[in-house]
Amino acid sequence: MKSVVVLGNWKSNKTLAEAKAWIEAFSKHKDFPVNIQVIVCPALHHIPLFMDAKFPIHLGVQDVSPFPAGSYTGAVAASLFAGTQVSVVMIGHSERRKHFGESNEMVAEKVKQSVSAGMIPVVCISESTQAEAVKQLAPQFFQKGMFLYEPLFAVGSGTPDTPLNANAFAAKLTSDFGRIPILYGGSVTPENVASFASQEYLSGVAVGKASLDPEIFFQLIVNASSRS
Ligand code: PGA
Repeated sequence: MKSVVVLGNWKSNKTLAEAKAWIEAFSKHKDFPVNIQVIVCPALHHIPLFMDAKFPIHLGVQDVSPFPAGSYTGAVAASLFAGTQVSVVMIGHSERRKHFGESNEMVAEKVKQSVSAGMIPVVCISESTQAEAVKQLAPQFFQKGMFLYEPLFAVGSGTPDTPLNANAFAAKLTSDFGRIPILYGGSVTPENVASFASQEYLSGVAVGKASLDPEIFFQLIVNASSRS
């Protein structure tokens, strides 16, 4: 049975009260499919709320500093997550590249910091040149990283890529860079998740909007398992 990753990215959403309500509702579900690895990436201030969570998830963050710990006001260094349950870090999401001017060089610095802190970097790419840049600038990514393929037209639009296109992109990445996990992201829903999760070269999906509602997200997790 193929193990499938489902990564929920809350982006810049949820007050403390809303996050607590999500966790309470999600905790009511006991029958998690065993072949799904769930990762939730909330906003930073929610992380302590997940420490006592009674459900089987991995915790991730949506970004990290390109610098080590020290005098970098406003940044959170990868090494500062020591002693927390945060094990995954998203890097170079298209919204960060677009709104915060993240370059391939900055992505590479974030990868290096994350790998040396023992975290799993999930590097987001919408074209293969961005993967090539990771290979050139931060080859340590390939020790334990995952790519997240997110075509720009599909992110937050309600119009996903086709599973066949996503699989073809992932197949090409695999032939260029070797076997590493590749997720698809962009308008994934409970209705379409199985068609992505069952593709040969995809190891799972990343979910923005559909992760914000605990019932929809749980249904998506269950459906992801049904064809895996
Ligand atoms: P979406 O976001 O599910 O809301 O389209 C996906 C992503 O940001 O990768």
